[in-house]
Amino acid sequence: MDIQVENVNYQVKVLFTEAELKQRIDILAQKINTQYSAEEPLVILVILHGALLFAADLVRGLTMPTEIESVRLKSYHGTQSTGKVELVGAIPPGIRGKNVLLVEDIVDSGRSLSFLIPKLKDEGAKSVKVATLLDKPSAHQVPITPEFIGFSIGKNFVIGYGLDLDGRYRNLPYVAELVKY
Ligand code: IMP
Ligand code: MG
Repeated sequence: MDIQVENVNYQVKVLFTEAELKQRIDILAQKINTQYSAEEPLVILVILHGALLFAADLVRGLTMPTEIESVRLKSYHGTQSTGKVELVGAIPPGIRGKNVLLVEDIVDSGRSLSFLIPKLKDEGAKSVKVATLLDKPSAHQVPITPEFIGFSIGKNFVIGYGLDLDGRYRNLPYVAELVKY
């Protein structure tokens, strides 16, 4: 498959198949299970829309009591970050005194998380940790170290399994990168 974005042609190359994603996410869930008490509720805060598919698969491997909540952030246009992060709506209530696990699709500049984490601490979260499916360490602009990372990848733009290009391709069952010709 090929994609054209702003008159540039990209080749779509599968990075992680459906089976590879599943295998890795099962391992991440087991790791998360060992890091939290088995009795204390964990708030799973899904960052929409990108982390929707990852979160749906991840939570099925968790064994502690969970409360699933979501927030929506906006920061991205096309394949370039705008650098500006906005919260669409409000932080869900009921975070005070709770352990919060933020579930993100990908950490790129790190701005979204560095915007959101202090807000959750202001709301009285007992702890805030991050599970991200993908991390682009070479793209970080602000210091951020997610506790649980599915895969570290290079700088290429990726789509699929929740990740979009201007709203499309989230439904692909695999993660693919856009490679310039
Ligand atoms: P950050 O704030 O720069 O870390 O960007 C994080 C957000 O930008 C992610 O939650 C994604 O929604 C989006 N994003 C960053 N890189 C990609 C990509 O390669 N493909 C699709 N979305 C991306
Ligand atoms: Mg996102």
